[in-house]
Amino acid sequence: MTGMDKAAGMLAAAERVVVFTGAGISAESGIPTFRDALTGLWARFDARQLATPEAFRDDPDLVWGWYEWRRAAVRRVEPNAGHRAVAAIERCVVVTQNVDDLHERAGSRSPIHLHGSLFEPHCSACGLAAGDLPEHPEEPLGEGRRLPPPTCGRCGALVRPGVVWFGEALPTHAFEEAVEAAANADVLLTVGTSGVVYPAAEIPQVTARLGGHVIQINPEPTPLDEVATVNLTGPAAEILPALVDAAWPGRSDGS
Ligand code: OAD
Repeated sequence: MTGMDKAAGMLAAAERVVVFTGAGISAESGIPTFRDALTGLWARFDARQLATPEAFRDDPDLVWGWYEWRRAAVRRVEPNAGHRAVAAIERCVVVTQNVDDLHERAGSRSPIHLHGSLFEPHCSACGLAAGDLPEHPEEPLGEGRRLPPPTCGRCGALVRPGVVWFGEALPTHAFEEAVEAAANADVLLTVGTSGVVYPAAEIPQVTARLGGHVIQINPEPTPLDEVATVNLTGPAAEILPALVDAAWPGRSDGS
């Protein structure tokens, strides 16, 4: 029996499925990952200057400009066959570390965003949601361009990106919901994550510890190989539609 057959059998028999995703699922839409050599964002940019509360305090225009550049890049791309295959798994809970909106745009309802969202900026002082931000249609934002953040309509402090930075806690409700779903899962699919950023990387381990099956989809080895019952080696946009089709013939659109 191939790994694909085994994984499809587990999925078809499962009542509760969790899909846990990282940057790799959006790679084939054209969004760079963080840790892939050469192309990953953390190979090109210094996380300490861009993704910490201190960085925003020291140079808010640099940080805001970088996140606006990333938001604009996400707006220009489309969900891929991997996101669509996830949306075709009925009643699964999607837990993502990604700050893009590609799961939602592919049709997954209410994915849990453990690391926040590029589309939910809020006030850095009082927390008020900033609402919709202006688009930048005329001049494509450059990757190192400074841009002053807007100010809060209630208290006047700077608006900050709605993402979780290094050194910050995960949104409590999102993390609790994710742990509960992982604890109750018969099968957890972990897709396109290096599994090195905690506490998010705990999620697949919770399922494995409590006796559920973990199926991993990734072209490269990760620390989660150890907890995975099955490792499917390859890109998400190829493997996920094939897996969903093997588990429930005809459900994935196969594109
Ligand atoms: P990483 O960049 O750490 O890992 C991406 C993973 O995707 C790697 O294991 C790649 O092998 C894999 N990958 C690449 N292309 C793929 C493809 N086409 N299909 C499937 N997998 C592929 O990204 P994350 O694990 O998401 O946090 O990183 C976790 C967190 O670290 C992010 O949420 C972000 C980052 O710093 C914050 O911003 C708080």
